[in-house]
Amino acid sequence: MKNTAGSETAKRAAGEAAAAEVADGDRVGLGTGSTAAHAIRTLGERVADGLAIEGVATSYQSRALAKEVGVPLLPLSDVARVDVAIDGADQVATDANALVKGGGAAHAREKVVASAADRFLVVADDSKLSASLDYPVPVEVLPDALARVERAVVDAGGEPTLRDAERKDGPVVTDNGNLVLDCEFGGVDDPAALARDLSGVAGVVEHGLFVGLADAVYVGDADGDVTTR
Ligand code: 5RP
Repeated sequence: MKNTAGSETAKRAAGEAAAAEVADGDRVGLGTGSTAAHAIRTLGERVADGLAIEGVATSYQSRALAKEVGVPLLPLSDVARVDVAIDGADQVATDANALVKGGGAAHAREKVVASAADRFLVVADDSKLSASLDYPVPVEVLPDALARVERAVVDAGGEPTLRDAERKDGPVVTDNGNLVLDCEFGGVDDPAALARDLSGVAGVVEHGLFVGLADAVYVGDADGDVTTR
């Protein structure tokens, strides 16, 4: 489920500001979504100007864009650490280091890359900020475990909805061949506890709660100004 409220100016400002932090020689995690795409395009321009980096894509979408704009790529399967990763978010808690990600169903690879990063930079428009997390949490599920995981989410106080494809009948299938449940928990009082509970359910490949991973959040606004938190 995608959070599409923010302005393009705000997203571009945040993406460009984070991309400016990348240094020559860096190995860079390339996030997924419209805000991360601005960072990837800026990196492409910097590569054309002589910046030497290696990108590590988090999705088919970010790999295609990186190729289009000329960012050299390494396969994620070969990479144990990156210097910096830049990625978007669907919701950013202002009072805790916690995010909801996965609006693009890429959160499993995004979390692998974020956790491998020396510095994980989140890029977001200001509509994504919230005092606490109340956005539905995407959960990537092995297809054969769907019923089991749905029950576990209900037991944990959530309401799971299978994510449907927008332009064709049938469910969304991730780049990893799995399904996505968008899980409504109302408010998430303790993101770390819910993250642990969801990770403990057999059949859950990954969930979209990113707790304690962000090193900085670049927040753009509709005037094109950026603040860093
Ligand atoms: C994809 C993600 C995206 O980073 C998240 O959905 C934000 O996207 P956008 O920048 O387009 O709002 O987590 O899985």
